[in-house]
Amino acid sequence: NATESSMSDKLERRPRKRLPNAIIIGVRKGGTRALLEFLKLHPKIKACSTEAHFFDVEENYQFGLDWYRQKMPKSLPGDITIEKTPAYFVTDKVPERVRQMSTNVKLIVTLRDPTERAISDYVQISTKKRKRSQSFEEFITQGKEQKILKTSTKTVQIGVYVKHLRNWLKYFPLSQLHFVSMEEMKVNPAKELQAVEKFLDIEPFIKKEHFYINESKHFPCVTLPDKKKSEKAGCLSETKGRPHPTVRNDIRTLLQNYYRPYNLELYKEAQRDFHWP
Ligand code: A3P
Repeated sequence: NATESSMSDKLERRPRKRLPNAIIIGVRKGGTRALLEFLKLHPKIKACSTEAHFFDVEENYQFGLDWYRQKMPKSLPGDITIEKTPAYFVTDKVPERVRQMSTNVKLIVTLRDPTERAISDYVQISTKKRKRSQSFEEFITQGKEQKILKTSTKTVQIGVYVKHLRNWLKYFPLSQLHFVSMEEMKVNPAKELQAVEKFLDIEPFIKKEHFYINESKHFPCVTLPDKKKSEKAGCLSETKGRPHPTVRNDIRTLLQNYYRPYNLELYKEAQRDFHWP
């Protein structure tokens, strides 16, 4: 029996695919790609680079946990296996399903001023459809007057973060969730990433020197060891950090006023002040 258990110990220590012990659950356009790419700097982080969409897409969920495990990279005990699917944060049935997989999985949410997030969403949607015929103002309001928000649209509702967070808190304690501020990560990526390392309980590795601010993108990029000369070396793809349209002030105010009470509730619930306007 002693040999049997030492055999299984040995097997356990070999690199193999494991279910995630951490998930970046959202939010869409909140800097989820940047967060995942930056986390990959850490030697203990083993990340699934494509969005798995296991818990939110019915067809995938029906394939079962083995299908999900197969999507993951190989890892060792003590490593953190992680994936990001931003749709998880806002999909009602996901928290319960995640809990069924694991009660101690760590959940990370990167949040961004919901007004800016809505504009980013519009840019993404209109780029995909290859049509910019509808302005953001038309897209987000109802009627010719453009005085009333289309509050029931997905683009607006995703930004009511506190509502989605409460759905997660039915299944997980707050201590199992960690919030990243996209605005902070943009100006001080090392600091935000170090807080994530702490939350994941892995030794500090990520430092200021890992990043530089790209002058043309105005976003942090990863300092590559071979110092490639290309202008955007170590930066995320062109689809991240896209230019936004100029938005009319009254429409921006309409959105900010709509989100303000929800934001204040979120700060209390998440125990973090994000300082959004
Ligand atoms: P915009 O393109 O609207 O500026 P996600 O990866 O979740 O889709 O989020 C995309 C957003 O991440 C981008 O939205 C951008 O604002 C933000 N972001 C944060 N850090 C970034 C970085 N280092 N490089 C590029 N985009 C970053």
